[in-house]
Parts: sequence; structure tokens; C-alpha cells
Amino acid sequence: MTDMMTFHYNISPDDFTRAGEASSDVKSKLKKMGVTPEAVRKVAIAMYEGEINMVIHAKGGEITVNITPDLIEMILADVGPGIPDIGLAMQAGYSTAPDAVRSLGFGAGMGLPNMKKYSDDMEIDTVIGKGTTIRMVVNI
Ligand SMILES: Nc1ncnc2c1ncn2[C@@H]1O[C@H](COP(=O)(O)OP(=O)(O)OP(=O)(O)O)[C@@H](O)[C@H]1O
Ligand SMILES: [Mg+2]
Repeated sequence: MTDMMTFHYNISPDDFTRAGEASSDVKSKLKKMGVTPEAVRKVAIAMYEGEINMVIHAKGGEITVNITPDLIEMILADVGPGIPDIGLAMQAGYSTAPDAVRSLGFGAGMGLPNMKKYSDDMEIDTVIGKGTTIRMVVNI
């Protein structure tokens, strides 16, 4: 595991001007490292959606990205309200985004389905009132 690189990002709550910065930083780092375009694209989409969800639905949090020669692991940990029904939240089109957020173009209910689609492995660990941790892996 000497080949592992780790990056940390703090995600501030309700800051739409900065939302997406962490995922775009990871995207450019992976490109510079010469990671395949397909893996870069999968990470960029999956991490962006998770990052935006932390801003919209939670109170921000922390993202850790581990990069090895074989895979990219993203751990998104927030201190938000938790997800009461993961099965429902995973359904395409399901969203609890308020009107103010929808008017900014979010709230199609496609974030979690796309995180699942573009990652090779995804686990959601959520506790009501405490927060949500999502682990996604993209194989290189
Ligand atoms: N980190 C989170 N904490 C609490 N609830 C969440 C979190 N992420 C998602 N959810 C819940 O799951 C629902 C579905 O999430 P999803 O990302 O699929 O859609 P959305 O964020 O509402 O819209 P879109 O991602 O298309 O802009 C959200 O509306 C919200 O209720
Ligand atoms: Mg979303």
C-alpha cells in the first residue's frame, strides 16, 4: 500500500458557489496521474453527485479520496439528517429537494442512481439524526 495517495476535502454546507470544487480537483489530479479517461469520468460524476448531496441535503462534511494503482476509493461522510429509506432514495426521480434548490437546477432525483451506476461498488451507511457515510469505489 505504499503506492496509495490520500486527499481530504472539507465540504461546507449550503455553499453552492463552491459546490463541485472537490470533485473537479480530484478529476484534474487523476488526469495528471494518467488514469484512464473512463475511470476519471466515472469518479468525476459519482463524486460530484455525492458532493452536491452533502451540500443540499446534509450539513456538509468531509470527503476522503484514496488512490491506488488499481482503484479510486471515495468516502463521503456528512453530519446531516441521515436517509430514512435508502431504497426509496435510490429510486430514479425521488427527491426531497426544496423549491429553492430545484430552481438552481438540482432535485431531479438522479444523483444517487448515477452514483450507483458510475461506481463499481457503493455502500451507504446512514444513521437518522447523525449523518451518512457513502463509500464508492471505481476500478482503474
Ligand atoms: N447525504 C444525504 N443526506 C441526507 N439525505 C440525502 C443525502 N443524499 C441524498 N439524500 C436523500 O435522497 C434523495 C435522493 O437523492 P438524489 O441525489 O438521487 O436526488 P436529489 O439530490 O434530490 O436530486 P439530484 O441529485 O438529481 O439533483 C434526496 O432528495 C434526499 O432526500
Ligand atoms: Mg442529488
